[in-house]
Amino acid sequence: MPPKRIATLFKDAQPEQAVTVKGWVRTRRDSKNGFSFVELNDGSCMKNLQIVIDGEVPGYAETIKQVTTGASIAVDGVIKESPGKGQSIEVHATAFELLGAADAATFPLQKKGHSFEFLREIAHLRPRTNSFGAVARVRNCISRSIHNFFQSRGFLYINTPIITTSDCEGAGEMFQVTTLNLQRIAQVQTEIDWKQDFFGKPASLTVSGQLEAEIFATSVGDCYTFGPTFRAENSNTTRHLAEFWMVEPEMPFYELEDNMDLAESFIKTMINDCLDQCPEDMEFFNQRIDKTVLETLENIRSNSFVRLPYTDAIELLQNCGKKFDYPVEWGTDLQSEHERYLTEDHFKQPVILYNYPRTIKPFYMRCNDDGKTVRAMDVLVPRVGEIIGGSEREERMDVLLSRIEECGMNPEDYWWYTDLRKYGTVPHSGFGLGLERAVQLITGMTNIRDVIPFPRTPGHAEF
Ligand code: 4AD
Repeated sequence: MPPKRIATLFKDAQPEQAVTVKGWVRTRRDSKNGFSFVELNDGSCMKNLQIVIDGEVPGYAETIKQVTTGASIAVDGVIKESPGKGQSIEVHATAFELLGAADAATFPLQKKGHSFEFLREIAHLRPRTNSFGAVARVRNCISRSIHNFFQSRGFLYINTPIITTSDCEGAGEMFQVTTLNLQRIAQVQTEIDWKQDFFGKPASLTVSGQLEAEIFATSVGDCYTFGPTFRAENSNTTRHLAEFWMVEPEMPFYELEDNMDLAESFIKTMINDCLDQCPEDMEFFNQRIDKTVLETLENIRSNSFVRLPYTDAIELLQNCGKKFDYPVEWGTDLQSEHERYLTEDHFKQPVILYNYPRTIKPFYMRCNDDGKTVRAMDVLVPRVGEIIGGSEREERMDVLLSRIEECGMNPEDYWWYTDLRKYGTVPHSGFGLGLERAVQLITGMTNIRDVIPFPRTPGHAEF
């Protein structure tokens, strides 16, 4: 029979109840009076369960020295109310078994705190620490919240392809997928014949599921895709990964303001769910990772987001009197320092910037009548910066075709996408939220490499 999980025991165990628990030893302390205290964790919650193993328990003398940090054990015992400070219950062992030893001389996780940099080198063991256990549980809570949010509104969950032959963002930052023997080709040919490749033409890992989501939005209605996306941009920042998870809702008959409303209530719902469902982990983040995280989240969930046209934001930044490293100029993208100034110093809450210059946004965004801007929106939040990027989509065939050409792309490659404008086109909108940036916002973790189990960044794909 599977053991009782420790989180469940903390919720509903009764004194004198007989239980079996299994997990990994965090620490062991031996008493002079011939018994030991073991702090056991099974990952189900932050708190360890204290196990008291008396010297009379069979096997104590032979085995207890091997019950070291990192070892796995199984314990049969009885629940007792704990006299210890901060412990509601403990287990008095009647039998225990060492499942797997962990050599104390080599096991890398010891009681002292370790740096996040060091822990990244042992990504196979870091989930056994308090911080990474908490991140895993909160990340799970956010994923559940995402599905609940859209499911409860009648959105269909659509699985869009990972392998693609189109570049959604038009930025050319894609990982190529091929079965060609590049080593051999390099020896005998100067040109690659893509017809010989698996798909008969160049293919890549997707940067976004949006274009396919639009197909379903304009057929079954409100829908969302949620999966891994890949960007071969060479950015070594605390906010960029080469492989990250993105949730992308796409809605027919939504205008930009409807899109903003949905994005705002989406972010607030994720925050509410984590505060409600992971109170212990959230308290840990507030105490140990970022002492302002609960206050920040409270502020975000209880106030309206600021909505500001890009042009106004540029004016504000130019006249704010602060010296930035990067110049602020109409027509350029905001840098992280600008985003942080707006959300942390000036407004002190999330800001939705909209109506960006069309020259810095992808082809699919709806053009405004001013001939200069598009119906884009970026949601910026304190500490993390851009967490959501989205837009109203260009539903007019002629404008879309000229934008595709303007962006230096070939309309023929997008024939199926433009067909959506040929047959029953409708106004529609959508956005993408990076899951890892949401985890950063909610946990206060500063480096994006520490909120995904196995980060992929330039030069790093171990594990
Ligand atoms: O603004 P982006 O590039 O938008 C799109 O991909 C659209 N197709 C989405 C849509 O409208 N359906 O990316 C959306 C979000 C960003 O706001 C950010 O949160 C995240 O994806 N993101 C990244 N997260 C981690 N590492 C990276 N390299 C990221 N690039 C984008």
